[in-house]
Amino acid sequence: MDTIGVLTSGGDAPGMNAAIRAVAKVASARNVRVLGIERGYDGLIDGRFRQLTRAVSWGMAPIGALQSEGNKGGTMLGTARSSRFLAPEGRQEASNRLQSLGVRGLIVIGGNGSVAGAHHMAIESPIPIVAIPASIDNDIGCTSDAIGVDTALNTIVEACDRISDTAQSLKRAFVVEVMGRQSGYLAMSAAVASAADAVLIPEHQSTEEEIVDSIAELIHRNLATERAKRLVLIIKAEGVSIPTDRLVSEIEARLLDTNIDVRGVVLGHIVRGGAPSFHDRMLAGRLGLVAVEAIMNGITDHMTAWRTTVSGGRLTSDPMVELFPITDVLNETEALLDGSSEITKRRIRRMEDIQGVLAL
Ligand code: F6P
Repeated sequence: MDTIGVLTSGGDAPGMNAAIRAVAKVASARNVRVLGIERGYDGLIDGRFRQLTRAVSWGMAPIGALQSEGNKGGTMLGTARSSRFLAPEGRQEASNRLQSLGVRGLIVIGGNGSVAGAHHMAIESPIPIVAIPASIDNDIGCTSDAIGVDTALNTIVEACDRISDTAQSLKRAFVVEVMGRQSGYLAMSAAVASAADAVLIPEHQSTEEEIVDSIAELIHRNLATERAKRLVLIIKAEGVSIPTDRLVSEIEARLLDTNIDVRGVVLGHIVRGGAPSFHDRMLAGRLGLVAVEAIMNGITDHMTAWRTTVSGGRLTSDPMVELFPITDVLNETEALLDGSSEITKRRIRRMEDIQGVLAL
């Protein structure tokens, strides 16, 4: 009987569990055993395996716990950012573990660092490896969506709505910081959906002075002179270098001779938790199906991609899902993060055009 392995790696994302469940369901329907690997690449090196399927009278079935675990946030397998896997020796140990168990292929669910790790192992090891993009940051090339992004955005939008309630009651300005160490995608998308006035993203590389001057002027214009306006909402990505508390105090210093209040809120890890939305579960199911099919067809060093706008992908059984060589994914990821990708430029233009959001 064939066996495949599955692991989650890097930052967790809502919907990772739904992807693990989908892999186990699709594989067992094809009479393939699934081994779950705990704590990402570290667990692979250490041989921390767990059965996700069981033998039944008609063949294979997913273990019972997957049915409800798949609806939860986080990752039931645990995850890690592995420094040992960065070294060829660590990857060799990981590959030896899989080969000694006769594993036919590995599915890696994670963000851009995890996808890069999958690429390195795929070129060094005889075991086929396919990645499924999962990261709330949506900073992975060649796919329009990664698992976890939609849930994270719903959480952010709900938080911004709540903050807007209190802000407009007291006629205040708020700076809301959201996750995104290298990418402003969450901040930009939430800005459109929450009708924010401005968004601060790392892709723009504005100086601290430019940011403070522009935001202080925007707040003053809207709250001191524009009587109909009752709140100013600024969404800031974590990756913008100025810390939120310092930004707020510097803006306040500029507005000293007005009676405008400015507050800062850092949403932090709240954005990464919670039960996955319908969209993330659907994405997990469809990407999981294509990943298992790819492994069974011997495809390696590829990533599943959802509704791509990039050419060069391989068509699959799902018209919305293509498979991209991971080298293409990594090149596009680099361009997304340094702002040179057409996709990043289009996202910024769209945000400015739809809501007139000031992007800095
Ligand atoms: O998963 C990516 C991410 O959400 C980044 O946006 C953020 O900077 C990082 O994870 C935080 O990671 P940690 O949980 O290790 O602090």
